[in-house]
Amino acid sequence: MYNAVVNEGLDRMSEMARGNFDLDWMDSNPAGWGHEVKPGKTGLTLCDVETGHYDQVPEHGSSHGSLAPRGCMVPDDTPSLDMYTLNEMSEVWSDNARHLYDEACNRQWNSTTDVPWHKLEKLPDDIEKSVCQMCTGFVEVEFVAGDMPAKWMCHINHDFHEVKLFLATQIMDEARHMDVFRKRALANGGGLLMASPASEELLAAILQANDYTTASSLMHIFGEGFILTLFRTGEFLAPTEVEKTIFRLCMQDEARHVAYGVKHLKYFLERHPEREGEIHSILDAGEQAIFRLTLEPQTIEPRAILAGGGIENIELGMARIGFLYSKQIREYLHRLKVAGLERESRMVIPAELSVETLLERAGVA
Ligand SMILES: [Fe+2]
Ligand SMILES: [Fe+2]
Repeated sequence: MYNAVVNEGLDRMSEMARGNFDLDWMDSNPAGWGHEVKPGKTGLTLCDVETGHYDQVPEHGSSHGSLAPRGCMVPDDTPSLDMYTLNEMSEVWSDNARHLYDEACNRQWNSTTDVPWHKLEKLPDDIEKSVCQMCTGFVEVEFVAGDMPAKWMCHINHDFHEVKLFLATQIMDEARHMDVFRKRALANGGGLLMASPASEELLAAILQANDYTTASSLMHIFGEGFILTLFRTGEFLAPTEVEKTIFRLCMQDEARHVAYGVKHLKYFLERHPEREGEIHSILDAGEQAIFRLTLEPQTIEPRAILAGGGIENIELGMARIGFLYSKQIREYLHRLKVAGLERESRMVIPAELSVETLLERAGVA
């Protein structure tokens, strides 16, 4: 009365009940047996266990196409999932992925208890509106760095699990970022203000990029690099300890994301120098999009008000924003240089945005 599958299982159980076991699995992987590890000072990390036999990452991911863990014995009849299209190590690998995963595990935080929300204070209307508008912008863009890894993860060969683990931490990081900025906008008597059509152009370029490495270059190095510099330098955009804490916590996460992107692009370009042109092309599009975004009123004006300390000091704020912009560009070019890409001569946007130059351009000075 049972079907064939159930009957087969019951037959096997009957054999076991009679004392007949298979036990082939016990000796299935002699090369991977007897592995020794030594926990480090911070506990047992991924870096601690991925040694010897388990440290052998294949340049071409295994062809069985299953979720079988790297380093185990894979039976011949293991079915393929037929999902993996990123099967070359060079397409996703970064030498720091393991280390960044370990660091991400150790440095998780949460927006519920790690931000001193009780220190929020009533702020002047122009400042609260500017904080809320800035947060609206962050809420809109933060999770692209969750959606993008999520789009590619299930296509990455399972032999590159360090990269998948790291990307999983990034998705969680970005969830926290979206959540913390949304909370800040809603927490102090204000609320969300205006979305940014110009942001969507950059977000679309990231999400619709044809391959993982171009998407990663645009997002991890360019987009997240700009945000990292802003969090690191933008103390003047944070009027209270609440925003300062948020920037500091997000900054440590963004530093990991950028570090992965820089090392991945380096690894990729060393093996595929012929693909440099494609990376430049997507950066051309990204630079134009971010320039349009930076100069959109709902992006630049709240930042200028915060940087000046109030709407009456918006000129001082503009000067500080100009300083921040040139720092973002300098650090962006430096990161690309470290990855092996000379971008300075190809950049399609200005390296500086000083108030004097803008007034000169407007014929005022
Ligand atoms: Fe983020
Ligand atoms: Fe990020």
